[in-house]
Amino acid sequence: MNTAATTSAITYIDGDAGILRYRGYPIEQLAQHSSFLEVSYLLIYGNLPTPTELEEFDQKIRRHTLLHEELKGFFGGFPRDAHPMPVLSSAVSALSTFYQDSLDPFNAEHVEVSTIRLMAKLPVIAAYAHKKSIGQPMLYPDNSMNLVENFLRLSFGLPAEQYEMDPVVVKALDLLLILHADHEQNCSTSTVRLVGSSNANLFASVSAGINALFGPAHGGANEAVLKMLRQIQADGIKPEDYMEKVKNKEDGVRLMGFGHRVYKNYDPRAKIIKATAHEVLGKLGGNDELLDIAMRLEEKALADDYFIQRKLYPNVDFYTGLIYKAMGFPEKMFTVLFAIDASRAGLPSGAK
Ligand code: CMC
Repeated sequence: MNTAATTSAITYIDGDAGILRYRGYPIEQLAQHSSFLEVSYLLIYGNLPTPTELEEFDQKIRRHTLLHEELKGFFGGFPRDAHPMPVLSSAVSALSTFYQDSLDPFNAEHVEVSTIRLMAKLPVIAAYAHKKSIGQPMLYPDNSMNLVENFLRLSFGLPAEQYEMDPVVVKALDLLLILHADHEQNCSTSTVRLVGSSNANLFASVSAGINALFGPAHGGANEAVLKMLRQIQADGIKPEDYMEKVKNKEDGVRLMGFGHRVYKNYDPRAKIIKATAHEVLGKLGGNDELLDIAMRLEEKALADDYFIQRKLYPNVDFYTGLIYKAMGFPEKMFTVLFAIDASRAGLPSGAK
């Protein structure tokens, strides 16, 4: 538990003070002033891009959005009610069967093109996993759009209709992708590193990381939070009574979206996300009752000795599910939205 596998020049976390920085930039600053694409560039290459560098990076990604037609056939092999996370990890693993000539982890060009392919294709695969689960046709990417816009259109668009892009949704999703972009040596990143240390290719390593993210103690918590809130609503339980169940550890029940292995203070991402939840639900209309339940749970927890003594605060997942739901994503897609950030796991040779 106290043994770090490496030091990171990418992310700095001070869990006791609630500080998170990417490449030295405070997360609050990046959330306010940067786009997801800029932050991705920062994480991969170590510096924020100039306008020309950003444009080139963006164009490279747009060029690689198409999935091989044979890979699309893959989606038909899963049961209709398949969870999109294993669909995603399987499709990412399958990428290595389509790009066999550029898989060498010691070849900087191979790693770079694989990273760009992952960034471009992972949102497309994620959107197709969603379309598969609701039985709708899969659209081709539209490369006049940026990565976030394309993902939304592929997730919600229909062939015969013009997809109306909501700027509130685009901005909020861009922000959420920034906030989930890196978190040093968490379970999924450590998994990618472990598999990669055997000199496995990038797609194989990232596919393993996606599976690690699936668990409810990690990325799966965003789905688990919404299930918990809905259960409380459906059963008509008072948040205070639910807290008693948690504190008495009845059936091992935990307050999902609370506690963190590293943060023993308010997760700085949760602060930003809480404000966004109010903004998005205010503009799009969402289930206000669920937001009220979440806020009452948080209020009770922050004043309760059980949580104070154990230093349990809301984490990144506590409010995200409510936002994703207001955007129109089903619960099964929540962890997939987190997984889209796995695309930058590859780093060009020389980057640390
Ligand atoms: N609700 C109630 N009690 C809790 C919770 C919680 N969410 N989290 C920890 N505890 C208690 C736990 O029962 C233990 O009590 P005691 O000392 O009496 O045995 C104490 O706090 C320490 O627990 P721990 O499991 O040793 O703590 P940890 O820091 O190893 O666990 C955690 C971190 C995230 C696994 C845990 O807090 C948890 O299960 N939280 C709920 C799931 C969740 O929200 N996960 C998302 C994590 S953040 C995003 C991500 O990584 O993907």
